[in-house]
Amino acid sequence: MKPPGKLSLPPQIKRYAAQVATNANLMSQYLENENSGSVDELAAAKTKLAEAAFELLNISRDTGSFLVHLTVDYQVICAFRWLCQFNIPRLVPLDGTITHGELARAAGAHEGLLTSALRLVMTSRMFEEPEPGLVAHSPVSRQMAADDSIAHWTQYISNTIVPTAASHMEATEKWPNSREVNNTAHNIAFNHNLPYFDFVSQDAGRGIEFARTMQAVSNTSYFDNSLLVKSYDWASIGEGLVVDMGGSTGHASIALAETFPDLKFIVQDLPDVSTDGAKRLDDRKLPLSIASRIQFQGHSFFNQQPIKGASIYLLRHILHDWPDKEAVQILRNIIPVLGPKSRIIVSDIILPEPGSIPAIEERVMRLNDLLLHQFTNTSERTLQDWRSIVAEASEKLCIQKVYRHPGSTLSLMELTSA
Ligand SMILES: C[S@@+](CC[C@H](N)C(=O)[O-])C[C@H]1O[C@@H](n2cnc3c(N)ncnc32)[C@H](O)[C@@H]1O
Repeated sequence: MKPPGKLSLPPQIKRYAAQVATNANLMSQYLENENSGSVDELAAAKTKLAEAAFELLNISRDTGSFLVHLTVDYQVICAFRWLCQFNIPRLVPLDGTITHGELARAAGAHEGLLTSALRLVMTSRMFEEPEPGLVAHSPVSRQMAADDSIAHWTQYISNTIVPTAASHMEATEKWPNSREVNNTAHNIAFNHNLPYFDFVSQDAGRGIEFARTMQAVSNTSYFDNSLLVKSYDWASIGEGLVVDMGGSTGHASIALAETFPDLKFIVQDLPDVSTDGAKRLDDRKLPLSIASRIQFQGHSFFNQQPIKGASIYLLRHILHDWPDKEAVQILRNIIPVLGPKSRIIVSDIILPEPGSIPAIEERVMRLNDLLLHQFTNTSERTLQDWRSIVAEASEKLCIQKVYRHPGSTLSLMELTSA
């Protein structure tokens, strides 16, 4: 038998281990000293800890364990889907416990299958078993039941993202070189021939599910609305109007309105989404000082922008959904109404050079890139791609500033017209 070669530690291992220790200490100091220090410092320490722990996990895996855990991860997704189909997050009590048998009866599910699925996802900290035979929520799963937006997002992953991703290969085989927006994995998974957003707008329930999903995603550390708030000098606008194009039910505008009292907002989206947004604003019972500054307007960004001379035309998470030709058209529909001080703000992913940012951040961007292929037959863009689109829209339009807040998945581009 061949003797094992001299084992060597990957050079980064000590650096990552130290990063974990330092940031775990910072976090525990923050919590032990009754939350002294800033919330931003705590968030930064959490990010740094996760970044290093993720690298350590990857470094520690050889090919065999990589493949074993790849298979496990896939089965975690299958078990997650199975549990969502049986509505398990909502059937486990928010506080307290339920036996496996009671849960199986309430769900109409096979107890043995339920137990196997639960005990697998518990290894990823979804649900807990405080005593053998008793199921309780973990902090992660409790939110899936208690928070309406997260509940919709959970279902959307289970009933839409998972089957769509599973049809990716079939879509490639069927339409190997197509750039048509209705030649996607989603078209195969849901057996239709519409562009994705036309499909969503055909059914009010789907529209609401997608809008709630976007709202929930925008509360995660990767896409948090607060990152949009911090990424631009909104205060410098003074009293101004922001037109939030494709703004869904207004979550980004609400976050901005809460911080900048001099700004007013018009949130535009497809008619049904816009109506839902106005209704949700009433339901949220926001202070009048915020709610009175936000209006909703049904408007397609494929028609000329009706609001002239606004301070900001915000396109957050919009242009990436469209191929270059349509993205150029969306920009061109704004250009005629730009006033001397108007700006277009594009908040979207700018793909980094591979390996140039922490893997735990890069993989979220790469995830979005694949989702776009599968849903809209588009892809995320590099800065060069963005420059080309802007130049194509108008030779007078240019990207004035580019900024990515540390830890944010989205970058912010400020566009001005000469
Ligand atoms: C990926 S979501 C982004 C939502 C929001 N801006 C955000 O950052 O979370 C895309 C939004 O574009 C909207 N949309 C799709 N087609 C549209 C159109 N032709 N005109 C206006 N909005 C549209 C969708 O309804 C959806 O709310």
